Amino acid sequence: MNGTPNAPPLADVLRLAAFAWMRLRTGTSLDRALDVALQTASAPVHPRLAAAAKDVAYNAVRHLALIDAVIARLSARSPDAAVGALVAVALGQLIVSRRADYAVVDQAVHAAKQDVSTRAASGFVNALLRRWLRQHDDLLPDLERDEVVRLNMPRWWIDRIRAAHPQCAEAIFDLQRAPPPLVLRVNRRRSTVAEYLERLARAGIEASRVGGYAVRLRIPRPVAAIPGFGDGDVSVQDAGAQLAAEWLDVRGGMRVLDACAAPGGKTAQLAELGDIELDAVEIDAQRATRIESNLARTSAREHARIRVIVGDVGTPQSFAPAAGYDRILFDAPCTASGIVRRHPDIPWLRRPADVAQLATLQARLADALWPLLAPAGRLLYVVCSIFPEEGERQAERFARRWADARPVPLPASGTQASVQLLPGEVAQTYGGGLPTVHDGFFFALFEKS
Ligand SMILES: C[S@@+](CC[C@H](N)C(=O)[O-])C[C@H]1O[C@@H](n2cnc3c(N)ncnc32)[C@H](O)[C@@H]1O
Repeated sequence: MNGTPNAPPLADVLRLAAFAWMRLRTGTSLDRALDVALQTASAPVHPRLAAAAKDVAYNAVRHLALIDAVIARLSARSPDAAVGALVAVALGQLIVSRRADYAVVDQAVHAAKQDVSTRAASGFVNALLRRWLRQHDDLLPDLERDEVVRLNMPRWWIDRIRAAHPQCAEAIFDLQRAPPPLVLRVNRRRSTVAEYLERLARAGIEASRVGGYAVRLRIPRPVAAIPGFGDGDVSVQDAGAQLAAEWLDVRGGMRVLDACAAPGGKTAQLAELGDIELDAVEIDAQRATRIESNLARTSAREHARIRVIVGDVGTPQSFAPAAGYDRILFDAPCTASGIVRRHPDIPWLRRPADVAQLATLQARLADALWPLLAPAGRLLYVVCSIFPEEGERQAERFARRWADARPVPLPASGTQASVQLLPGEVAQTYGGGLPTVHDGFFFALFEKS
């Protein structure tokens, strides 16, 4: 029934995924919704069940617009939230056909019968899923005529990307619907990239270099099965994201501020770059705990003096800043429009007004951070966004507001002091410069003159 031995019952997987889907539809991010599903489950959830539910929920979100359209077309009235969620995650499984259709329908009906909120609708669940199986060959081309369904993004999101990047919009859409690559950052304090690639080869794992310290596994696998991950020899980090700490030009003895630090991917990376004094500030106390676990796994405190501080970089007195930082990494809160392939829920969680609101927040935080920089110090502004309001325009306005902010050319970009990296993958071997596989980011570097 469940494909592989020891696989959790599919009905349990569907129920957990449906719970997360329901929360997502009321505005909670999918990762957070999955965490809540695990925390509020009546009994401890086995890691295999949690992983399977995550997979099923993510798969459904990758087809969210199609699923909504199918339910609207095949049911006379919209189902209750709990019933709709169960149908949605089951439809997601039928759409990708990775499991036997009969097993998905059978287990979805079984799941419906197990819960008081869905029990009365088990017949409806059965009927709707079977209708989809009978009609999908006709229905699919018809529903996919709607671009929102085909691209799985809200109309306003599609329009904004087309307006901002008319030449590359279709390539961005294609890439953002594809499953994300698994990219690692090799801890340079532990080994070279070549040594780590050899280690992978010895373990029979195919991989290639896609950036300075970035290695892509040909087939993604759980972190527990990645050689050296538990010991901090490598970390999971997109090759574009790796550029931020690299481009900050951190050297031993410097005082560095990692502003907006959780979950700490770049904090740990900064500690790999030099024996520095590092303040990592994060406003969200719960997320800040993840910085500590990243630092512990990579033994970052062996080299760097690190303070992890729960505080608001917009009000620096809240975190007792050092007297003049040599470097500030400002990885600002943003729409995250550059990392949709990793977080397919993002376009469905944002509202059009969020772009301007986040741009205002970014400007306010940047203005609060700039005075904390020592003379000749550098601030790198980073967002994982491809919207110009958060990127190029933000950097231009910042330079206009601060007469002592001198734009500095970024490494690997000739004379440009800012780079908009669009999500991309090129089929060439990495030969230095920009990574060959990366998500979407904007970077701008300023020096205090
Ligand atoms: C893009 S994420 C940072 C990712 C992180 N630098 C990394 O590489 O793992 C932005 C973070 O900024 C935090 N944040 C938002 N507003 C903040 C503020 N005013 N002060 C400090 N942190 C803030 C968010 O909670 C979020 O964790």
